[in-house]
Amino acid sequence: MAEDFITEEGKSVLVVGSGGREHAIVDALARSPRVSKIYCAPGNAGIARQAECVDIEVTDVESLADFAEGNNIDLTVVGPEAALAVGIADRFLLRGLNIFGPTRNAARIESSKEFAKKLMAKYNIPTGSYRTFTDYDEAFAYVSNGSFPTVIKYDGLAAGKGVVVAANIDEAETALRDMLKEASFGEGKVIIEEFLSGPEFSFMCAVSGRRIYPLAIAQDHKRAFDGDMGPNTGGMGAYSPVPFITDEVRKTALDKIMKPVAEAMVSEGIPFTGILYGGLILTDEGPKVIEFNARFGDPETEVVLPRLESDFYTLLESAVNGKECATRWSDDACLGIVLASEGYPGSYVKGFEIRGLDNCRGAVYHMGTARKGDKTITAGGRVLMVTGKGATLAEASANALRDVEQIECENLFSRTDIGHQAI
Ligand code: AMP
Ligand code: GLY
Repeated sequence: MAEDFITEEGKSVLVVGSGGREHAIVDALARSPRVSKIYCAPGNAGIARQAECVDIEVTDVESLADFAEGNNIDLTVVGPEAALAVGIADRFLLRGLNIFGPTRNAARIESSKEFAKKLMAKYNIPTGSYRTFTDYDEAFAYVSNGSFPTVIKYDGLAAGKGVVVAANIDEAETALRDMLKEASFGEGKVIIEEFLSGPEFSFMCAVSGRRIYPLAIAQDHKRAFDGDMGPNTGGMGAYSPVPFITDEVRKTALDKIMKPVAEAMVSEGIPFTGILYGGLILTDEGPKVIEFNARFGDPETEVVLPRLESDFYTLLESAVNGKECATRWSDDACLGIVLASEGYPGSYVKGFEIRGLDNCRGAVYHMGTARKGDKTITAGGRVLMVTGKGATLAEASANALRDVEQIECENLFSRTDIGHQAI
């Protein structure tokens, strides 16, 4: 289409982060005819094939801003919450640098569960009822008089590990002790929340104040093993689209949750720019909020961005400038399987050689890899996200599973049933 043709503008972009999410962001930017140079700080072995990796930590905000200024970066895109939490967006804005990501204050929608809960209560956004506690005895008395299962959340960033769904009083007691008495998490504050049931889905929207640019819906798989068994992880696989989320449910989620939250942030004087990630659950009463994140989801981004047919740079630029931007999405399905180090999400050993990457036909996003001489080695808990595309989710799954077979590494495990709720 003629209006899609954009001549080379030579835009330079800096992507902050080093995981699969950032690899997918780099990959989507690499497809934009408007972008001619991509840097990634610090990046990883896979990202290095598509971007120039810069050795700056994601929390070293001043060095990142110096780099952006010194290299005439047109736009910086933030991946990890750690960078947002130390105020990367605040610093960049103060220095007049374009950045896609919320201020530290706006990112509290992720970093403080209590902030998110209060906001939702004030603006009537559907979510589970809750109470906050700092005192162990009061919290224990409250759960003792309540029903099970009940949900106990540590209030603060805990990398997805600060949530316990307690089936009985013993499990609740252990969780409360860990969070309020052992102080293993830091400052002790917990939220005890109503248990919601239904299928979960991830709805990411680019947001610019009141303006909202919805992305395709995805579903993550949080448990480590097949059959949704084992410990909670950062996510072991994902797929998009999600067939049981109908257009009607999507519209409800947009009109009753995502748009009102963006407006609420403006009304509170803390407008949000960046990705607002709704971790939603489809209950009998309609979609409700489990949590918000202030950033792209990982591994959802790796299956959502490959389905974006319109220009990704233009979407980010429009959000930063508060301009309108229509997006176009492929009807094809995308499904990704995470290969993680044995032992993850607990302790694991790094440094194992990975072979067979070039035999994969689909996109393989690197989550935690490094180079050692001419070899690619494991360098994290989650190591690779192997993705497949297809006209149907079943086809995408078959393609992804076939590519997983191509990867040779003695210390990786993966799930075989990603997409089971939909296939
Ligand atoms: P969160 O870190 O808040 O996303 O929680 C991690 C996981 O815990 C979610 O993906 C859900 O599976 C589960 N969870 C959290 N809150 C609730 C809730 N209110 N009801 C049921 N499950 C929940
Ligand atoms: N996949 C969930 C997250 O990014 O937090």
